[in-house]
Amino acid sequence: MSDPTTQSNYDEVYTEHVSLIWAIDWEAKTVSGEAIHDLRVKVDGVAEVIFDTADLDISKVSVQDEPVTYDVKGKHPVMGSALHVPLGNGLKAGSTVKVSVLYKTTKDCTALQWLDKEQTKGKQFPYLFSQCQPIYMRTLAPVQDTPSVKITYTAKVTSVLPVLLSAIRQSPPSDGPAHGGKIVGKDLVEYSYHQPVPIPSYLIAIASGNVVYRPFPKYEDRNWTSGIWAEPEMIDAAYWEFSEDTGGFLRAEEDIVTPYRFGVYDLLVLPPSFPYGGMENACLTFLTPTLLTGDRTLVDVVAHELTHSYFGNGVTHAHATHFWLNEGWTTYMERLLLQVIHSPADRGFSFLIGYKSLVDDLELYANQPKYQRLVIEFEKGEDPDDAYSKVPYEKGANLILHLERTIGGLDVFLPYVSDYVNTFMGKSITTNEWIAHLYAYYEKHGGPEKIKALDSIDWDAWFYGEGTSLPVTMDYDTSLATKAYSLAERWDASRTTEVSKLDFKSDDLNDFNSNQTAVFLERLQSYTPLPSDLLAHLGSLYGLSTTHNAEIRSRFYLLALKDVASPAAPGFAASAANWIIGEGTGAVIGRMKFCRDIFRAVFKVDKDIAVKAFEKEKMSFHPIARKMIEKDLGLA
Ligand code: BES
Ligand code: ZN
Repeated sequence: MSDPTTQSNYDEVYTEHVSLIWAIDWEAKTVSGEAIHDLRVKVDGVAEVIFDTADLDISKVSVQDEPVTYDVKGKHPVMGSALHVPLGNGLKAGSTVKVSVLYKTTKDCTALQWLDKEQTKGKQFPYLFSQCQPIYMRTLAPVQDTPSVKITYTAKVTSVLPVLLSAIRQSPPSDGPAHGGKIVGKDLVEYSYHQPVPIPSYLIAIASGNVVYRPFPKYEDRNWTSGIWAEPEMIDAAYWEFSEDTGGFLRAEEDIVTPYRFGVYDLLVLPPSFPYGGMENACLTFLTPTLLTGDRTLVDVVAHELTHSYFGNGVTHAHATHFWLNEGWTTYMERLLLQVIHSPADRGFSFLIGYKSLVDDLELYANQPKYQRLVIEFEKGEDPDDAYSKVPYEKGANLILHLERTIGGLDVFLPYVSDYVNTFMGKSITTNEWIAHLYAYYEKHGGPEKIKALDSIDWDAWFYGEGTSLPVTMDYDTSLATKAYSLAERWDASRTTEVSKLDFKSDDLNDFNSNQTAVFLERLQSYTPLPSDLLAHLGSLYGLSTTHNAEIRSRFYLLALKDVASPAAPGFAASAANWIIGEGTGAVIGRMKFCRDIFRAVFKVDKDIAVKAFEKEKMSFHPIARKMIEKDLGLA
């Protein structure tokens, strides 16, 4: 099956390299310029190339430098408008052809968010960033927007603010002043970048704003560099949070899998409207500022994103149906790194937290059981964002963990992992190709006994099973969860005690890390809701409704909003909604994990509070988050 989310004819002719020449216009809020494709013909006589586009303003198309008459088809609501470009007659398989498209983005560009200066930390300069996965690169440039096509790219971008791309910076030098020594916000600087490793289009990314760089300590025995970008007001906190672990994770990953191929591994901490926890853009992982909790407990997100350098950016899923190959494998490896760098208990704890989020999402899809599957057969033009959930992450990671245990543990499993990545590095693959290699590997390294072990796995149940549980009951190391569980039990047992007689102390949580506090709150969610006065006491005693740690605050609100009939619910609904829309701080919390969950929970308690809060600030959300919240609240 070919990619169900693209209209391009990538199996006939495909892009090998694209040169992007862009100018950022901060007034008009557009990126304008040119995309020059070096195409390779796959099929004799192919007469046209079809690109994906959406909401682009195209002014000229040339083939081999000659202007041609092109055709932009009507807009499909998910896939956008196919751009048909005639290539002339008689092209032979193997030959190359150059196509240039002059265009501008429009205000409907889904990939880009333009932030006013008030929405940034520094409040002095505007900010721009992209999010292209899964299918939004087509709103930023005409491309064959499928992960089955892997391209190299170069870019020349002019802006009055520093520009970062998912590539290697050539000029101005990245270790010099961020804006090449020119005046930030005033002088136009041309940035050039080069991405020599072929990557899927969803990994092309841009950010521009008042950002500065700080390198992480260099490892003399490794040939990559790593560091962090953020607004100057945030750089100290950002450096502190990630400098300890990032390089160590990457080293461990190299030692287990294979050397890092991208040369640079930088992090960029974005403003709070960034819609994800992290995004593995090549050479430059994008991160939400909600990770800056000051206790380094959320570094697992960095372990996750850098793991994508192998699983996703190196070995890529062929299309949305096989998305789990990216996320399931990455989640498994992220937790293996936690085990190696921290402790086995950390790995188990992470699986435990993940399991709860899996069950929540499986329950959310009770009426769309198709999305409870690990391998989803999408219809042509179905929106992959509707299927986005923890299922590919957690079912996928548990399948790999189950595989590791069934095959005989890490000693026999890790050599296979390395072989898998080295075999498919640079390629885009399907679930069938993955499994064929798995069997071939153990046929060679182990023989009948290992094949028997593989055959004992109920593959159909893992790939196509529906329902709200895993095909196998998994055991995890729960040692880090016990104190969270027992504190939750004490609260549960106190539900009939008068608040004035309770003996909970504000320092009960002092020796908990944020993940343990999160697990404590999740455990409480699994009990009958607490009476409102107890809940209020819980919130104020531990500062749960005022903490800047979004992982904790969101879980407290979700606990408080669980009992929709409680007299306290509307009060919590209003404060939860206000927190998301950034009342008092001026910046929305746009990470979808938080804003979608909270809006959905508020909506259940009081539709009006949810819809009004959203309407008030909806333009402050990234277009992707806006679109998804509108669906969740029944507004679209
Ligand atoms: N690649 C994903 C983000 C993504 C997936 C964006 C699909 C758009 C479509 C990224 O690697 C990711 O999984 N982020 C997680 C973090 C993680 C630790 C599970 C997130 O944002 O929550
Ligand atoms: Zn991921």
